Amino acid sequence: MKEGKNTQLRDKLIQLRQRVAELERIVTERKWAEGELKESFEELRRSLETTVHTVASAVDFEELRRSLETTIHAVASVVEMKDPHTAGHQRRVAQLSCGIAKEMGLSDEKIEGIRVAAMVHDVGKINVPTEILRKSGLLDRIEFDLVKMHPQSGYDILKQIQFPWPVAEIVLQHHERMNGSGYPQGLKGDDILLEARVLAVADVVEAMSSDRPYRPALGIDRAMKEIRKNKGKLYDPDVAAACLRVCAKKSRSNKHVS
Ligand SMILES: [Fe+2]
Repeated sequence: MKEGKNTQLRDKLIQLRQRVAELERIVTERKWAEGELKESFEELRRSLETTVHTVASAVDFEELRRSLETTIHAVASVVEMKDPHTAGHQRRVAQLSCGIAKEMGLSDEKIEGIRVAAMVHDVGKINVPTEILRKSGLLDRIEFDLVKMHPQSGYDILKQIQFPWPVAEIVLQHHERMNGSGYPQGLKGDDILLEARVLAVADVVEAMSSDRPYRPALGIDRAMKEIRKNKGKLYDPDVAAACLRVCAKKSRSNKHVS
């Protein structure tokens, strides 16, 4: 409803601007545009230009941002209800992913796409049986195969939502590895989206630093060791280097606080 009104208002303003431009052209052509008349037209044109620009960007951006944020939280909460471990995990992976992306100097646009994808990256776990998600022992082959389907399930859910970033593709690729040993497609190197390579590293670090149903937290040092060891092999070298810098900075600032 509100969106309809906003669109009407924007269209109206665009029509007004066109009308003013037309009048201006007529006045100029007939050489009536002298002194005050021309000045007032110019003033009117300028103010309309600014208004149209402000209204168009504010309306679109605010509406879009709000509806996207609601959608993201709705999608995230679906899987979080089923698997309580996923709740904090997705949020923390989003924070670390954004930290890595900033450290790499990626654009705000890319960072926002990474944040959104990270917030919902495990949504496909909705199709994994709860007993498997909460199992305290190691998974057998069949159970693991079921878990490995979650990037594809996530993609199938998210591709139905029109995001301004490739969210579904990033989620699909978040378990791919640089040497092709990942899943589901076994993509290699640059064939994996940069956003997915960032998410992959943040996901591993967060998962290793937190408690899992089947083991206690391994700690940030073990996670850093893993990233260092497989930098360039499993993980994008630039992403891994940025992650190591971000985590080193964080641990230095934590030491300062304590
Ligand atoms: Fe995952």
